[in-house]
Formats: sequence, C-alpha cells, structure tokens
Amino acid sequence: MSVTVEAPPRAAAPATARLHYRPESASAARRLVRRKLMDWELHELADDAELIVSELVGNAVRTGCLTFMTVKIRRVTAHIVRISVRDGSRTMPVLLKAGEDEECHRGLALIHKLTHGQWGVTPDEFGKSVHADLRVPFG
Ligand SMILES: Nc1ncnc2c1ncn2[C@@H]1O[C@H](COP(=O)(O)OP(=O)(O)OP(=O)(O)O)[C@@H](O)[C@H]1O
Ligand SMILES: [Mg+2]
Repeated sequence: MSVTVEAPPRAAAPATARLHYRPESASAARRLVRRKLMDWELHELADDAELIVSELVGNAVRTGCLTFMTVKIRRVTAHIVRISVRDGSRTMPVLLKAGEDEECHRGLALIHKLTHGQWGVTPDEFGKSVHADLRVPFG
C-alpha cells in the first residue's frame, strides 16, 4: 500500500495569539482565524471556524485561569485546518448531551458536529490544548 503525504502549501505559516482569559478575547480570536483563512483563500471555512474558536475560547475563559491562553490556527496538511486553544487548566473537556431546548452545554456538541467528530485534547504539563479540525473542501 502506498501512502501519499501532502505537504501544506507554501506560505501556510500558522497564526497565534496570546489572549487574556476574558470574554472579549473571543472577538480577537474570531478576527485571527478569519484573517488567516482569507490569506489562505479559504473563505468558505470562515463562518464555521469563527463559531468553533468562540466556543473554545469561551470554555477556556470559564477555567478561570490567570495570564494567557494561546489561540492558534494552522494547516496540518493541505486539506486540514486546525484551530486550537491552549489553557492552563488540567481539567478535561467533556462532551455533554444537551436537550433540544437546553441553552447550556452546546459548545462541544456544536464543535463535534461542525468537525464531524474531528476534535480532541492534548494534555501537557501545566494544562491542555483543545483542537478542532476543519476539512478544506475540494474544488
Ligand atoms: N477548556 C476546558 N477546560 C476545562 N473544562 C472544559 C473545557 N471545555 C469544556 N469543558 C468542560 O466540558 C463541559 C462541556 O463544554 P461545552 O462547551 O459543551 O458546554 P458549556 O461550556 O458548559 O456550555 P456552552 O458551551 O453551551 O456555554 C463544560 O461544562 C466543562 O465542564
Ligand atoms: Mg462551552
């Protein structure tokens, strides 16, 4: 079996921002991902990416950590865009089932839906990073 590994396109440098644990950071994170997706001419991913990063930042804010979270958008491959938010809490996220009319616990369920289950958590020494992958549409 042969496996083709596609390198990310040139000029696919990631974008990163260190943001305070405050609700206002969500809008800075949305701007960061939208701007980067425009650079990559992936306009069609921008709305989903903004929703995802808003939910990830919202969850990071609720950890109540101090100093900064790190928001990042990068091309994992030519066909996968990864959005991640690292926070300083070692508590892991839990995908909760929200009822149809419930207003809470919808964030990760939304991310799960938008990424077709392609999201995850990577713990590190002092916290963890939660990432969500969007597939670049063909054509
Ligand atoms: N970054 C995180 N650090 C620690 N716990 C998290 C993190 N993200 C999510 N969680 C946990 O997972 C649960 C589910 O997250 P989710 O985003 O689905 O719902 P929510 O944040 O409770 O509500 P909503 O997103 O609808 O405002 C949270 O209640 C929280 O307990
Ligand atoms: Mg949430």
